[in-house]
Amino acid sequence: MNRRHTVILLFVSVLLLVAVAFFVFPPMNRMRSPDPAFDNGAPRMGMNNMHMGGTAGPPLSLFDQAAAPLTIPPLLEGTSASDGSTAYTVTAQEGVTEMVEGMPMATYGYNGSFLGPVIRLRQGQTVTIKTENHLDTATSFHWHGLKVPSNVDGGPHSPIPAGGTADLEFTVNQEAATLWFHPHPVGSAGEQVYQGLAGLLYIEDAHSDALALPKEYGINDFPLIVQDRLLSDGSPLNYSNAYTPDGAYGDTLIVNGTINPYLDVKDEQIRLRLLNGSNARNYQFQLADGSSFHQIASDGGFLNEPVAMRNLQLVPGERAEIVIDLSGYAQGESVQLMEEDIPVLTLNVREDQPSKAPSLPTELNTLKRSENTGIPDKTLTFSGMGHMVAIDGKQFDMERIDLRAKARTKEVWEIHNDPDMMGGMIHPFHLHGVQFQVLSRNGEEPPENERGWKDTIALYPGESVRIAVEFPEPGVFMYHCHILEHEDSGMMGQVLVE
Ligand code: C2O
Ligand code: CU
Ligand code: CU
Repeated sequence: MNRRHTVILLFVSVLLLVAVAFFVFPPMNRMRSPDPAFDNGAPRMGMNNMHMGGTAGPPLSLFDQAAAPLTIPPLLEGTSASDGSTAYTVTAQEGVTEMVEGMPMATYGYNGSFLGPVIRLRQGQTVTIKTENHLDTATSFHWHGLKVPSNVDGGPHSPIPAGGTADLEFTVNQEAATLWFHPHPVGSAGEQVYQGLAGLLYIEDAHSDALALPKEYGINDFPLIVQDRLLSDGSPLNYSNAYTPDGAYGDTLIVNGTINPYLDVKDEQIRLRLLNGSNARNYQFQLADGSSFHQIASDGGFLNEPVAMRNLQLVPGERAEIVIDLSGYAQGESVQLMEEDIPVLTLNVREDQPSKAPSLPTELNTLKRSENTGIPDKTLTFSGMGHMVAIDGKQFDMERIDLRAKARTKEVWEIHNDPDMMGGMIHPFHLHGVQFQVLSRNGEEPPENERGWKDTIALYPGESVRIAVEFPEPGVFMYHCHILEHEDSGMMGQVLVE
């Protein structure tokens, strides 16, 4: 064999290898062709919006069970104390849930058997929360998106042993927003969330009271915790069956714990407060008939104005409030909120409103955009997959402070997702203790629906994102990938704020 043959042989084998790799790891998250008129919320990263197979888990399928009314979590009532504060009790407990008819399963929940109540707080309110752990394992109560000192944050530094309790006290010091709470114990956040520990935390204020938006809880303002669980194999909730090092994935969508949910609504504007509460799966939400809707709020509060969109992506941990105008639908019609080709929620228009829905307010907030300064104060690199995930080449160590920052001082952070040879994957970046602004994605303005307060964002493979961060409180705060299995494997660091 001469040199030329060797070169040809090499070339052919490389081609073959690439072809084999493509079949073994097909690109899973299909690209949507962006509609130029409505690409405000669409991912702009082109081919980077790929989530390689083998890490995307089983595809979602329709679970063979009759439609059921959407479970609306109860609102948790506080009791007011003589000092003007309001007291709440949140208990992590075991329970039995019959998500699948005829198959009661062992689950976890807050103050109930699966998921938790909605805790509704007001800006300026002084709150005490008694957290109780009735599980037979340690947990922690983390308030995702809440701007509180780190002794209240409930991260890995605040485990509560089985049977233990802790009392928290804080003053709500941020604007109206849809936040959430979930466990954060070292190494087992993924399993505990999968078993059912998660709940929503609303903040309301004088401004959200005054805005002409749907706000009747359970009537035209609905919480939607969207999750995936492995259910169609007929076995009960079993984290180890769903587990992969790149995320626990299910094959069945559940919304507030309901399979195939529907809601009976009026032909008016309805507001959906969406949380991607999945361990690892990214969602692309659309309406089945292709209609547009408006996003009104991102993680930490209202956007400056409603953003019209036809496709909304949420990565794990991320929230969005959207308003759907049903005034064009007649009594008896239905519209479905979809994730790709799987229905998330069916909206049945059951009642004609005599007066049609008012139009949305054009101004929702008065957020000032931070300047994108020249040199970032900090740079972070997310890399790896599976158990090899790391931030700046390191895995989480509770004894190590990775970054230092000053409270009430604005910084620019540049966060990079370093792809590997297989193309890498989206890492949802989350930072505790603060709401930040996205300054740029690969040097370009972020999409319009990312120009409000954020605490969780998609980091696409190969991408560099700049954010403006200003911690309101001192303490030690976590930053991590919100694929809970990556977090549990150590894709997490800590910043000391002084
Ligand atoms: Cu939603 Cu550190 O978590
Ligand atoms: Cu958090
Ligand atoms: Cu990750």
